[in-house]
Amino acid sequence: MFSDPAHSAAALASLLKAALARPGRCLFLTGAGISAESGIPTFRGPEGYWRVGSRNFHPQELATRAAFEAMPAAVWGWYLHRYRTCAQAQPNPAHHALVQAAQLLGERFLLITQNVDGLHLRAGSPADRTYEIHGNIAYVRCSAGCAGLAPLAPLADLFPAQPATLAAQPGELPAAFQCRACRAPLRPHVLWFDEFYDEPLFRFESSRRAAASAALLVVIGTTGNTNLPQQIGELAARSGCPLVVINPEPNPFSEWVESSASGVYLEGRAGDWVPVLLRELSGVLAGAAPAAR
Ligand code: OAD
Repeated sequence: MFSDPAHSAAALASLLKAALARPGRCLFLTGAGISAESGIPTFRGPEGYWRVGSRNFHPQELATRAAFEAMPAAVWGWYLHRYRTCAQAQPNPAHHALVQAAQLLGERFLLITQNVDGLHLRAGSPADRTYEIHGNIAYVRCSAGCAGLAPLAPLADLFPAQPATLAAQPGELPAAFQCRACRAPLRPHVLWFDEFYDEPLFRFESSRRAAASAALLVVIGTTGNTNLPQQIGELAARSGCPLVVINPEPNPFSEWVESSASGVYLEGRAGDWVPVLLRELSGVLAGAAPAAR
C-alpha cells in the first residue's frame, strides 16, 4: 500500500509495464469517489438522505422501481435534485487525467463507470469506450420500455426552483412526465436496486467480456458493493490481471491487492492519484515498443 506519490512511482511503473505487455484492454472502473472532489455526494455518505413529507428516505429506498411505482413524483423530486447537483458540478483533475489516458491508450482504453453524473463524458471521455453501467441521470426513458432515451433538461426546466414541490405530492406526476407514445410515466435512465443489468442499456455482457480478458484493471473511488463491479473484479483477478486501486479507505478491492502478486493500492484521493497514474502510464508508453492489443 502506498500513500506517498514518490514511493509509489517505481512500483506503479513496473506494474504498468507488465500490464501493457499483456494482450487485452486497460480497464478503468470508477465509482462515486471520483466525483466527490467535484462536489457530488457519494452514494453511501451521510449527505444522501431525502425527505418526503415527514419521512427521511435513504437513496437505497428511493432508487427502486417499487418506490417509483408507489410515489413517482416523490422519486422524481429526488432525481431532479440530484440532476441539478450533477449539472452544476464540473469534471475534476481525475476525470481529465482519464481522458488523457484514453488518448494515450487509444483502442486499448475502456472506462466502466457506476456514476450517473455524466462527468466522464462531459470531460471528453470517448463515448464508445465509456460504459455507464448504472445509466446517466441527464436522460429519461419510458417506464414501460418504449425505445430510446431523451434528455431530461426540458422537463427539469418545468420545475425551475424546487423539486421539493414534487416531493410534497408523492403520487402525482405532471403530464409532461408521460411517454408521448404510450402515456406510461417517464423515468430516469438509471439502474435501480431492484432491477437487473442488461446489455442494451447497461453493457452487462460487454463489461464482463472486457474484464475477463483485461490487461490491467484500475479501480477508482468505489466500495465495490454492487453486482457487476464485483464481477468485473473477480473476472479480472481470475485471469491474473494486474490491479491498481485508488481509494482513501481500504475496501474489498484493496484487500485483493494485498493478497495479489501483481497489485498496487494507492491510498488517497482520486484527484491526487489519477494524475500520478497518468504520468507513469505516459512514461511507460513513451519507453515501450508498440503495445500488444
Ligand atoms: P459509494 O458511495 O458506495 O462509495 C464511494 C467510495 O468512494 C468509497 O469507497 C470512498 O472511500 C471513496 N471515496 C470518497 N472520496 C474519494 C476521493 N476523493 N477519491 C477516491 N475515492 C473516494 O459509491 P459507489 O461505490 O460508487 O448503484 O457505489 C456504487 C453504486 O452503489 C452506485 O452506483 C449505486 C449504489 O448502489 C446503483 O444505483 C445501481
